[in-house]
Amino acid sequence: MTFSSLYSGKLVLAPMVRSGEIPTRLMALKYGADLVWSPEIVDKKLIKCERVVNEPLGTIDYLEKGGNTKFPGKSNLVFRTLPRKEKGKLIFQLGTANPELAVKAAKIVAGDVDGIDLNAGCPKPFSTHSGMGAALLSTPDLLESILKELVTNVGDSYKIPISVKIRLLDDKDSKPTVDLVHRLCKTGISNLTLHCRTRDMRNRQSPIRTFLPDIIEACRSHKVNFIINGALRNRVEFEEFQNTYGEDIGGMIAEGAECNPTCFSHKPLPWNQVIPEFISIAQSVDNYPGNTKYILLNQLPGKSPFYQKFAQCKSHEQLMEISNTVGEVGNKVLQKYLTKDVLLNPEQEQTDEPTKSSPESKRGTEHLDSFPQKKQKLEATQVA
Ligand SMILES: Cc1cc2nc3c(=O)[nH]c(=O)nc-3n(C[C@H](O)[C@H](O)[C@H](O)COP(=O)(O)O)c2cc1C
Repeated sequence: MTFSSLYSGKLVLAPMVRSGEIPTRLMALKYGADLVWSPEIVDKKLIKCERVVNEPLGTIDYLEKGGNTKFPGKSNLVFRTLPRKEKGKLIFQLGTANPELAVKAAKIVAGDVDGIDLNAGCPKPFSTHSGMGAALLSTPDLLESILKELVTNVGDSYKIPISVKIRLLDDKDSKPTVDLVHRLCKTGISNLTLHCRTRDMRNRQSPIRTFLPDIIEACRSHKVNFIINGALRNRVEFEEFQNTYGEDIGGMIAEGAECNPTCFSHKPLPWNQVIPEFISIAQSVDNYPGNTKYILLNQLPGKSPFYQKFAQCKSHEQLMEISNTVGEVGNKVLQKYLTKDVLLNPEQEQTDEPTKSSPESKRGTEHLDSFPQKKQKLEATQVA
């Protein structure tokens, strides 16, 4: 298998800070994700970690040496993987703006993951403030040199592929993005993921797909695999993309999977089945309960009655108790409020009910699109 074929034609879970922790990844894999991306982890943080084999859980843990320096007393777990389930399918996403640090950090995890992805697409201040994420799109020389260093000093020595995730550079003209793609593909990377929005666009804005043929062609000319990202919701839609752009094209889902990690299956589960299974997976890998709750709450609008109930929980047991009351009522709540209800019932799109794809529903989706609001939710619900 070539490095590129690892990604070819795959439907994958996107990197998502907080939301893409191990329970989401395991559930996505169980329900048909071909590969899963870790949340972005920043080079300096990873460098401070030690690798610990967690025998009881069967996981490999990366723990911050000397404890959690940002929140003393809180968990110092930075990254956890369950090789029994993730081996062969886990891409680690790195946040960096420094070639040397990038290599040093990537070497720490290289033996436990199946690829290293460079984040050059996240526009959020926590990423861009030090020149990382989408800020790298404004420093193409640096971006190129990080990728070259990773390919030579990590990819080649550990025999794992290096990839990059970018955004569109311009919403009117394909040339700047196509030119950058050619440059990046020449660094020796195996895959390029394009979030089809510009740095200034928010997730609630429709992605721009008109440049795709040119960008895909550029990748193919270097034998670099291409993954499309942005407003892709489920496997059926992915197959439609493949019909349009070719079977070698991959697809990446973020918010759709955050909302329902079974969306990779041809038949995603309804919410009252997703929730208990998600909690039980989270429990089985000893996930931080505050993180499990955060992900559950991201699936719900604040005004739903279940939001308040979940928000008060402090343990997986309590979350499970509430999830057992969700039933059909919960599914209806979700159908009524949740922007991604189409994931649960694709036929819904044909009815008059507002869905994610209708303008009516878009007016109510802002809470899912912006990190600051999610942060507010988190602050309101943090487990003691
Ligand atoms: C909660 C959340 C966290 C995210 N964290 C990351 C990240 O760590 N790295 C990254 O490259 N993109 C991150 N993104 C962006 C997604 O990977 C993806 O590019 C974007 O949401 C568009 O995909 P979608 O339309 O399927 O949601 C994040 C998105 C969300 C919703």
